[in-house]
Amino acid sequence: MPEVPWIIKYRPKRVAEVVDQDEAKNEFIAWLNKWLVGKPDKKAALLHGPPGCGKTSLVEAAAREYKLELIEMNASDFRRKEDINRIAKVAATKASLFSRGKIILLDEVDGISATADKGALDAILDLINVTRHPIVLTANDPWDPKLKTLRENCKLIGFKRLPKKTVISVLRMICQREGLICEYAALDYIAERAEGDLRSAINDLQAVAATTKKITLDAVKAVVYSRYREYNPFEMLRKLFTSKYIWQAKSILSSSNLDYDMMMQWIAENLPNQYSDPEELWRAYEALARADQYMGRIIKTQSWDLLAYAMDMAAAVAVAQKKPTYKFVKYNFPQKIMLLAKTKEVREVRDALAKIIASHLHISSATAKSEVIPYLKVIFESNPKYAARIALGLNLTESMIKYLAGNRFKEVLNYLKKYRGTGGSTHRRSK
Ligand SMILES: Nc1ncnc2c1ncn2[C@@H]1O[C@H](COP(=O)(O)OP(=O)(O)O)[C@@H](O)[C@H]1O
Ligand SMILES: [Mg+2]
Repeated sequence: MPEVPWIIKYRPKRVAEVVDQDEAKNEFIAWLNKWLVGKPDKKAALLHGPPGCGKTSLVEAAAREYKLELIEMNASDFRRKEDINRIAKVAATKASLFSRGKIILLDEVDGISATADKGALDAILDLINVTRHPIVLTANDPWDPKLKTLRENCKLIGFKRLPKKTVISVLRMICQREGLICEYAALDYIAERAEGDLRSAINDLQAVAATTKKITLDAVKAVVYSRYREYNPFEMLRKLFTSKYIWQAKSILSSSNLDYDMMMQWIAENLPNQYSDPEELWRAYEALARADQYMGRIIKTQSWDLLAYAMDMAAAVAVAQKKPTYKFVKYNFPQKIMLLAKTKEVREVRDALAKIIASHLHISSATAKSEVIPYLKVIFESNPKYAARIALGLNLTESMIKYLAGNRFKEVLNYLKKYRGTGGSTHRRSK
C-alpha cells in the first residue's frame, strides 16, 4: 500500500487539534451551535485566510466531532450550476438520514470564475437562501469583487497565517510520531519557506523523509525548493531557468498563472537572453518547438491526455542533461489537472479514481481529488516502478494509470506486468 500523505494522516480529528486559530474556532463553533438549535444569524459562513492554515481541517474536524454528515464539494465540482443544484441543493433541502444533521462545504469558492462559470455564483446564493443545513464556504481572498454578494450573505470568519513557531511545533510532533531524527535548523528552514502554509510544510517534511530518516538541514536543502505562488511571468522565468530538475521546471510551469500559449511565448522570447551557449540554445528551442507541436495536436484533437507530454517538453528547456531525481512537488491543485479535468471522459476516470482512493484512505472523494490525486500524479510521473506498486495495491485500471502517469504510462504498465508475473492487463475492467 502506498504511504498515506501526511497531510491526511495528521489532519486534525477534533476541533481541539486545529492549532492556533482560537478566534476563528470560537466564532465558527458559536455559529454552528446556533444552527444546531435552529437559529442561525447567517445561514452560511465564509472561512477565509491563506492556504494551509486549517480552514478545511476545521470544518472536517467539527463535522466529525458533532457527528454531522459532511457534504464536500471542491471548486472543480461546483463550477456548474447544475452540479450545485444536483448535489448541494438536494443535500441542503433534505433532512439527513443517518446522522443528526449535516454541513455542506463548498471549498475554495474563489476558484470560481465570474465569467467562465456563469451561474455558479448565483446558484450558491440560491443555495444559501433555501438551505435547511449549515453551508460553509472557504476562500483565500474573500475581498475578490466577484464574491461581493456572497460575502454579504455570509458570516465572515478570518483565519490567520500560522506563525513559524507553530509550524515548527507541528513538524516536530510529526517527526516524533514517525520516528525521525530531526535538526531544529532543518525544521526551521522548512517552516521559513512555507510562509505559514502548514500543508506545504508537512509535504516538504514528508518529501525529505522519503529520502532519509535523518532530517538535517542539508537533507532539507537538497529536497525542498522555494514555493511557487502566483508568479508573474518574470518570476516564472527566473524560477524556470534556475531549476535543477525537470520536475522543478514542470512544477513551475504548472503553477504559473499564465495560460499555456502565453507561457510558450514568454519562454521563446527570453531564451536567447538566458542561454548564450549555441548548443544549449538549440536544445532549448528544440524542446520548445516540440512542446508547441504537441500543444497544437492536443488542441486540434482535444486529446488532453497528451498534455503531460507538452509539459515535459516545455520543462526540458530548463534542464540540459540532468536526470530527474525527483522526490516531491507542491500540493496545490495544478492547473494542468484543471485543464485535464475539463474533458468529460477524463473527469469520469478521475472521479472513479477518487472513489477508490477515498474508500482506501477513508476520506471524502473531494479530498481525494484535491489532495491525494495531485500527489499520486507526481509519483506516477516520476517513479514508474513505485507507481506500479501503488497501482497494484489499489487495483487501478489502465485508464486510471494513464491519467496519473501521463507519458510514463507504458513504463508503469511494464512494471505492473512484472509484478503480476502474468503479462495480462489490469483486473478492474470497467473504467
Ligand atoms: N491550524 C491547523 N491545525 C492543524 N493542522 C493544520 C492546520 N492548518 C493546516 N493543517 C495541516 O495542513 C493540512 C492542510 O490544511 P487545510 O485545513 O486543508 O488548509 P486550508 O486552510 O488550505 O483549507 C491539514 O491536513 C493539516 O495536516
Ligand atoms: Mg482547504
